[in-house]
Amino acid sequence: MIVTLTNQKGGCGKSTTALNLALGTAALGYDTALIDADEQKSCVETLREFDKPRLTVYESGKGVDTLVREVEDTFQFVFIDTPPHSHHIMFKAMAVSDIIIIPLQASPLDIRSAKRTIEACEQVQKEVKRTIPCYFLLNRVNPRTNLSKEIGSYINELYSVPLLQARLHNRVAYAQSLMYGKSVIEYNRSSDAALEVRKLLKEVHLIMKKHNE
Ligand SMILES: Nc1ncnc2c1ncn2[C@@H]1O[C@H](COP(=O)(O)OP(=O)(O)OP(=O)(O)O)[C@@H](O)[C@H]1O
Ligand SMILES: [Mg+2]
Repeated sequence: MIVTLTNQKGGCGKSTTALNLALGTAALGYDTALIDADEQKSCVETLREFDKPRLTVYESGKGVDTLVREVEDTFQFVFIDTPPHSHHIMFKAMAVSDIIIIPLQASPLDIRSAKRTIEACEQVQKEVKRTIPCYFLLNRVNPRTNLSKEIGSYINELYSVPLLQARLHNRVAYAQSLMYGKSVIEYNRSSDAALEVRKLLKEVHLIMKKHNE
């Protein structure tokens, strides 16, 4: 099962989410790959000094689609982290995906700027002639506010892409845990961050299971 994290907007949480999903899935016992298609190599560098059982990290760049085809039979889950501003790589990653997740900050500016990514998503599906489920993931939501309803309707008015129920809040744990090569779950199992990533994992795994039926 191949999951791409993408958004042409920089800094919206693609790498943080890809790392937490890949580490979390591997920790559940699945053979997992994380493909870092960004030349900034955030994922590769973050995990370079850590040996994570059941998780293999690759770097790819432009050859992301070829790499996916080479390794997909070896792993139960493949997560792809894509770069900002590279339409070309985003397109190739989307084309080989079973599901696309677009992390997004809960602000009108970020929501508006997702338009290009959504258009690419629609174009890819036409080109590959299959439906690829595509979801927004709200990230860095302020834990002290409750904007969710308003933001949800704002997104619904602009796009037909659904919003995942799980959302990630703005928490120090996301940066702190990765210093130790850990997901927020491994770092502190009972933290609020761990709770929301577990919820996200569950939702993503469920979508994939349904999609496979
Ligand atoms: N939920 C969160 N809470 C707190 N900090 C976060 C959260 N998500 C991401 N960050 C921080 O925001 C910054 C950008 O996140 P990240 O690198 O994951 O985004 P990105 O979309 O991969 O960026 P780029 O487009 O440059 O690849 C990082 O410093 C990361 O630690
Ligand atoms: Mg990144």
